[in-house]
Amino acid sequence: MIIRRHSENYNFFGDTETGLTLRWSRSLSENPEYAPWPELADISISNHCSKGCEFCYRDSTPNQSFMSVKQYEFVLDSLHSNQWGNVFQVALGGGEPLEHPDFETIIQKTVQRGIVVNFTTNGINLDKARAEFLKGKIGALALSVHSLADLQSEKIKLLKEAGVRTNLHFVLDNQSLDEATGILAGSFNQELQNIDGLIFLTYKPKGRASAKRCLTMDERLSQFVASVDNNKCIARIGFDACFVPVLMNSTDVNVDYIDSCECGFFSVYIDEALNVKPCSFANNDHFSYSLNEFSFQTIWDQKYSLYRSEIKENRCVNTCKNKSNCRGKCSYYDALSFCYQESPG
Ligand SMILES: C[S@@+](CC[C@H](N)C(=O)[O-])C[C@H]1O[C@@H](n2cnc3c(N)ncnc32)[C@H](O)[C@@H]1O
Repeated sequence: MIIRRHSENYNFFGDTETGLTLRWSRSLSENPEYAPWPELADISISNHCSKGCEFCYRDSTPNQSFMSVKQYEFVLDSLHSNQWGNVFQVALGGGEPLEHPDFETIIQKTVQRGIVVNFTTNGINLDKARAEFLKGKIGALALSVHSLADLQSEKIKLLKEAGVRTNLHFVLDNQSLDEATGILAGSFNQELQNIDGLIFLTYKPKGRASAKRCLTMDERLSQFVASVDNNKCIARIGFDACFVPVLMNSTDVNVDYIDSCECGFFSVYIDEALNVKPCSFANNDHFSYSLNEFSFQTIWDQKYSLYRSEIKENRCVNTCKNKSNCRGKCSYYDALSFCYQESPG
């Protein structure tokens, strides 16, 4: 199905079959400032997880905090605009989505509305039956790892056999950085042969994640960044938005294909208690609004217009080649401002 949205300053094209999305403003060479309705909603359908990763930014535990199917449908209803339609896609997370008792119903409810559904999982509860269920229903599944030693090759094979597009989410911190540089050098291509895309997630010091593991702009990180342009990884690589400034600053990546932080501009986060935030990693409640109190339209149009104007004040004085395309540092984590420079005055 092709989804199109057009207004004077914002044009969007999305293909639900391939996941291809394009956006432009008055002309193809102009970027819209923000979307009149989000293209993507990141939804935590629970904060329940039995795995207990020591670096979990959500501090998830087996706490039974599930979003009910009724609440999930309310969220999808809220994310429907009479003028713009539904969000193009959702990314389900948690907690562990595969531990949600109504996971399959949630997938079905999303598919019925013509919304592309993706989800992130630790993979522990993935089996042949689940892979078969997912066949033809989801855009992509992301398996999370902190080291390739955690790779569950048998499960990846099951997904491949079921034709489910499978990505890896690789958490990039100062412990996993050397392995990540090896991934870019192609040293793990055998292990990654059934993976469609590998997304490096910048480590955030939130929840159980200690600040000690944060990346810093040292020689090792510079070496990793320097390997991006001519990387030999067998899978397509990608990065989360927090890493985009350093890519714009130090690589030849085509800025037409990457986005400065999209949060609150093109995407939004909703937690299991129905709170809307610009980003799942938000470390304060400054722009957190409950769907029980405000309509989504009010949040997106009114509340977030203030957020957007704050973010657009990029005070970085670094005169890099992509200054005009960059939104500067992450507004939540100073520790992630790898190339950001502020005026000493
Ligand atoms: C919180 S998990 C929830 C979904 C699911 N349980 C999983 O393991 O993928 C969502 C994603 O956040 C990543 N993640 C967890 N803690 C993180 C941190 N401190 N910094 C950055 N990413 C983190 C995980 O690796 C995973 O890809």
